[in-house]
Amino acid sequence: MRLNKFMALSGVDSRRKCDEIILSGRVRVNARVVKKLGTQVDEERDLVTLDNKPIRLKGEYVYLMLNKPVGTVTTVIDPQHRRTVMDCLPKLDKRVYPVGRLDYNTSGLLLFTNDGDTAQKLIHPKYEFEKTYLATINGTLSNESIEKLRNGVDIGDFVTSPARVILVNSAHNQSTFEITIHEGKNRQVRRMFESVGSEVQVLKRIAYGKLQLGDLPVGKTRTLTEDEIKYITSL
Ligand code: URA
Repeated sequence: MRLNKFMALSGVDSRRKCDEIILSGRVRVNARVVKKLGTQVDEERDLVTLDNKPIRLKGEYVYLMLNKPVGTVTTVIDPQHRRTVMDCLPKLDKRVYPVGRLDYNTSGLLLFTNDGDTAQKLIHPKYEFEKTYLATINGTLSNESIEKLRNGVDIGDFVTSPARVILVNSAHNQSTFEITIHEGKNRQVRRMFESVGSEVQVLKRIAYGKLQLGDLPVGKTRTLTEDEIKYITSL
């Protein structure tokens, strides 16, 4: 397919505008700047970038957000036949996979896609994607313990990096903290609270980078908006 058509179908701009963009030298095919109008690209094999960011045909990829219910396993197939996050998805004509994982007893924002490159980037520690959780514990924490969580705690095999920790609610002898971490170690938030002598009773992920769970009901999915897709695919 012609390069300007490929770009237009990917949502860059009209074909005529895409020709102007090509002539300005901002487009590369397989790392080489291409200025020749009428250049052909193989949409399956060629990597086309605009300002060094990959551009992709629309419709090829699916990006979904699920409000994962408690009591579901983040896996495609569970040998123990428990309910999986895949059981929560609507019927799709594309095969999608969860991006990262949430514990069986954790609810909240879980992404799914068939865009393997983006999924890899999202979970790669290099990008330090912030993840925000609401963690409810019995009782409360001393200021000293909150400070420890903020500065980094030893969770056994790992010392956590600085985290944002805010007490958002305290009632009926329970406290809820909003905690934002950069890493994604196994059971990290639960282990962080354990390290200061507290057990998380309820854990919910409410944000993943700039993506917000908002008021998406438990067990429901929605497709990401154009802006959200742009955000995660232009990493
Ligand atoms: N931290 C946890 O402890 N559990 C999760 O599911 C996610 C982060």
